[in-house]
Amino acid sequence: MSWTSMQLLFLVAGFALNLMLLVHSRDDQSGFISIDCGLQTDSGYSETGTGINYISDTTFIDTGESKSTSPSYRNEYQQPYGSVRSFPEGARNCYKINVTRGNKYLIRASFVYGNYDGPDKIPEFELHLGPNLWDTVMFENASNADTDKELIYVPLRNYIHVCLVNTGSGVPFISALELRPLPNASYETETGPLTLVSRCDTGERPNTQTRYPFDILDRFWGTYNDLDDWTQLDTSSTIKSESDDPYQLPSVVMSTASTPKYPSDSLSIVLSLPDKDAEYYSYLHFAEVESLQLNQSRWQYVSWEGAGSFGPFAPPYLSRYTVYDTEAWSTGGKYVTISVTRAENSTLPPVLNAFEIYMVKQFVEAETNQEDVDAITSIKSTYNIKRNWQGDPCAPQHYVWHGVKCNYQEFESPRIISLNLSLSGLTGEIAASISNLTMIQSL
Ligand SMILES: *[C@@H]1O[C@H](CO)[C@@H](O)[C@H](O)[C@H]1NC(C)=O
Ligand SMILES: *[C@@H]1O[C@H](CO)[C@@H](O)[C@H](O)[C@H]1NC(C)=O
Ligand SMILES: *[C@@H]1O[C@H](CO)[C@@H](O)[C@H](O)[C@H]1NC(C)=O
Ligand SMILES: *[C@@H]1O[C@H](CO)[C@@H](O)[C@H](O)[C@H]1NC(C)=O
Ligand SMILES: *[C@@H]1O[C@H](CO)[C@@H](O)[C@H](O)[C@H]1NC(C)=O
Ligand SMILES: *[C@@H]1O[C@H](CO)[C@@H](O)[C@H](O)[C@H]1NC(C)=O
Ligand SMILES: *[C@@H]1O[C@H](CO)[C@@H](O)[C@H](O)[C@H]1NC(C)=O
Repeated sequence: MSWTSMQLLFLVAGFALNLMLLVHSRDDQSGFISIDCGLQTDSGYSETGTGINYISDTTFIDTGESKSTSPSYRNEYQQPYGSVRSFPEGARNCYKINVTRGNKYLIRASFVYGNYDGPDKIPEFELHLGPNLWDTVMFENASNADTDKELIYVPLRNYIHVCLVNTGSGVPFISALELRPLPNASYETETGPLTLVSRCDTGERPNTQTRYPFDILDRFWGTYNDLDDWTQLDTSSTIKSESDDPYQLPSVVMSTASTPKYPSDSLSIVLSLPDKDAEYYSYLHFAEVESLQLNQSRWQYVSWEGAGSFGPFAPPYLSRYTVYDTEAWSTGGKYVTISVTRAENSTLPPVLNAFEIYMVKQFVEAETNQEDVDAITSIKSTYNIKRNWQGDPCAPQHYVWHGVKCNYQEFESPRIISLNLSLSGLTGEIAASISNLTMIQSL
């Protein structure tokens, strides 16, 4: 296997959008929340390539400025990535988005710099989900400055905060925020939320990206191929998902498979891991795309170098078979090699149709007590306070709201213990909701 060709294809598989033609349109965006950040009109639109209905971000955030990417970038990306909201003021700026508590969501934040501010100088900043660090947003270089961050998360409250945090390395900005409800039984983990490391269709043409409506869950699928050692199998038949299938894999992704050029070889994928100490989950998707003769068989194993193996199994004809981990694995290194190997009694070489790798995030910061949040939110709207009164009031401690003091030790979740409204320059009547801050000691 050649390292460089793998690496190269991996980059190609990134964010560059090649629109796929819409053959059929479906109206099943149920539960989708699709926000075009910085969109300068209040009316939304239906994106031409995908049919996804985007809305403006103005009802989800109080601060920031809307800007457009420079015209030379605009044709390269779908419409939602043509405008940004940037945050020249404030250390932390947060979107508040209503969700259904207990449902599983795919949350995707996209960043296309597109020289929106003129100097072609890329910033670096943090992305937080509520009080917890989700990821650091950074770019390789100004001409190639696009990235997206994905998280699979089950909100504990009926809203989430997505915050952009200025760390002193340039002005944070964001292009789009998308929430997609996922089936409860998909991507189950023992601990914390999952952040996407890699999601690829193997055996697909390079330089395409598949998303909604081909993928009804609107996952982004890049491509992964090894032109030296792999070859492709495909079928014109549809690979269907039952309506209760938690993974709902797109047929265009599953109908192409990679197999080794030399039948005795394995298929090996080498992936770089963002954090050698973190834990990971992988989901490998298989389907038989050839109609096998009675004297043919395809039995195969999967192994994770230094982290176990699974099999043998035979991928079912035209339907999905997913190999996933019930416990997270860790290699302790910067890379993982995943191999699909032919079983001894198999007459045919192994196949792989698609794979996904996720990293476990440890979200340890607790959000402020819900009753305190409700009360202070009501005070905030009574006095129409904007400034830094965004995101969680107490957590993390570094970004506590001006004039608010919290107790972090004595309770399961932080409680507001004092409020200094004169710090916020407020006058007038005292809001009744202050009485609902039950732990308050000074006012
Ligand atoms: C979010 O939910 C709250 C409480 O149910 C409601 O007051 C608010 O208007 C909702 N916000 C949006 C943007 O829908
Ligand atoms: C999702 O599944 C978990 C158990 O796996 C269950 O506790 C929870 O109530 C389910 N949530 C919904 C929205 O069905
Ligand atoms: C930016 O990065 C891309 C790929 O990472 C590379 O192909 C390109 O040459 C770089 N451009 C500059 C100006 O460094
Ligand atoms: C399977 O059977 C076909 C004829 O039906 C024959 O041509 C082929 O060689 C056989 N393959 C194997 C692996 O035995
Ligand atoms: C290959 O081996 C597996 C288990 O080791 C077995 O279940 C399967 O039936 C075998 N297949 C053939 C074609 O012998
Ligand atoms: C509240 O804030 C004002 C203005 O900064 C300050 O003068 C005052 O001492 C503060 N009060 C308390 C109790 O901390
Ligand atoms: C205080 O909280 C209770 C219950 O949570 C709510 O019904 C009431 O409206 C709140 N009072 C004020 C003044 O916001």
